[in-house]
This record gives sequence, structure tokens and C-alpha cells, in this order.
Amino acid sequence: MRWLALALAALAVILSVSIGFMLANPGRIPLVGMDEPESTMTTADVLAHPGLTRVGPHAFRALVVARQYGFTPATLGVPVGSRVDFYVTSADVTHGFEIPGGNVNVEVFPGYVAHVYATFRKLGTYRTVCDQYCGIGHQAMLGNLAVLTETAYAASLRTTQVASPLVDGAAVFASNCASCHQASGQGVVGVFPPLAGSLGDYTKVAGGRVVLAHVLVDGLSGSIRVNGATYDGAMPAWGASLSDRQIADVIQYVTTAWGNRAKNPPGFAAITSAEIASARRPALTAAAVHAERAKLPQQ
Ligand code: CUA
Repeated sequence: MRWLALALAALAVILSVSIGFMLANPGRIPLVGMDEPESTMTTADVLAHPGLTRVGPHAFRALVVARQYGFTPATLGVPVGSRVDFYVTSADVTHGFEIPGGNVNVEVFPGYVAHVYATFRKLGTYRTVCDQYCGIGHQAMLGNLAVLTETAYAASLRTTQVASPLVDGAAVFASNCASCHQASGQGVVGVFPPLAGSLGDYTKVAGGRVVLAHVLVDGLSGSIRVNGATYDGAMPAWGASLSDRQIADVIQYVTTAWGNRAKNPPGFAAITSAEIASARRPALTAAAVHAERAKLPQQ
């Protein structure tokens, strides 16, 4: 009888230590009373509406799409003290979504939405990184999250909403395109097509500028020949994550950088934001853009 009492006492001690540990480490072990209701966000929601929404005075919801090789949106900005609920999905393979120093680190699978949240109490810029090897461009799969003062945050909203802010095409390229097409515009032979020396395929032929706008807005998938090599990958659609102005400016950048300016026909006029706006309707599939591109006359 005494042994039984001792055994029960020992059991009580062990249980109280382990339950105490659970209570002292909320988050490690899910307990009742979590402050966020179970997520009903679907992959389709996230894929269709990537972006950042303010849902309360100090609360934001970020829908983030991870794909080879970048995050959409690539850049996030919130006022200091904000809690951000991230809903992250993948458009292709398994990725990671980590904010070093920001207490965010999840694996991101296609077909699932990862939900993770953190409160950002320190001013500064965090990196968002993919920490799962996902292919040749993995190391370049980066974005950032700026934690701003309320004033700077308000100013950042104004600059992105003004009708024609001065957008730097080179900066748009560096943060969205260079991980595949490379800063040199040379791409990676057989994997990512070069932009250097190849955009005459669009700028020199009738109808080419519309197809080029569609490639940026709607993406492109299917086999193409560029500068004598075959590419069978996919260009993501940027229409949802970049503004008309950003797309027009990045086209302006790539059609003039790396010696491309000299390859444009005489009198070639830059593609305008208005042309991008009209290229958005109707929405095309990446395969439809491929078919449209195949019909362009050869230069
Ligand atoms: Cu995505 Cu590594």
C-alpha cells in the first residue's frame, strides 16, 4: 500500500512538471484559448489576392505566394508595433518562408496555406527568405519587410498610390526579375532565357509590344527559342503583384539595358502604363500568351 502511494505521488510530480512546462511554453504545444480563430483561408484566396491588408489599428494580414524564385509581394511595409498574420502558399514546389530575427519560419507546400504571425516592435528592415532548397535560383529567393514609423508608413502608401510615381525600372528588375534573368540580363542558358540581345523578338515586329505586355502581365509557359537556345520553363504572371507603372518601367528598363536600346527599331517608343492597363483585359493564361507569341512574325 505504501508503495502504491509512493508511485502515485511520483506520477503526480511528473505530470505537474510536464503540464507546467506546457503552460510555460505556449505556442510550442497548442493549448485552448489561442487568440486566432482557425484559418479558413484557402490556397485559391492566397493565389488570387496576394498583398497586404490593414485589418486593424495594429493588425495586418499578408497573403504571400512563394514561387520559383521569389515571393509575391516581394516587399512589405508596416508601421512599428503591428501584428502581421502571414498566410503563405506555394504556386509550385516546396519553399520556406522565414524572417530571420522576426520570429517567423514555416515550410510552404503547394496546396496548403501556412499561417504564422508575429508582432514587429523594432524599426528596420527584415529579410524574408526561402530556407528550403527549391531549385537553381533558391539562394536568390528573397524579399523584405520594412517596419516603419506611422509617418513613413503613410508616406509609403502615398507614393505607391499616386497615379505616376517615379518608379525605378532597374529597382523593379533587381527585386523581381534578376533572380532568374540575372542582373546581367544573360539568364542561365537552357534554364532562364536571356533578355540581353533578345528583346528585338518583340520590339521589332508588328504586334510584338502587346505580346510583351501580356508576357509580363499574364506570364508565359511552353517551349520557346531565344538567342538560339531552347527554354521550356515558365515566366510567372506579374499582373497581380506589380502596378501598371512598375511593369511599364521594368519593360522600359529591359528594352534599353545591356545594349538592347541599339536593337530597338528606329523611333521605338517606350511601352506606357496605359498600354499595360489595357493589356490586363481580358486576362490570358500563360499558355495562351505562348500561342500568341508563336504567331508573331520572325524578325
Ligand atoms: Cu524557394 Cu528555396
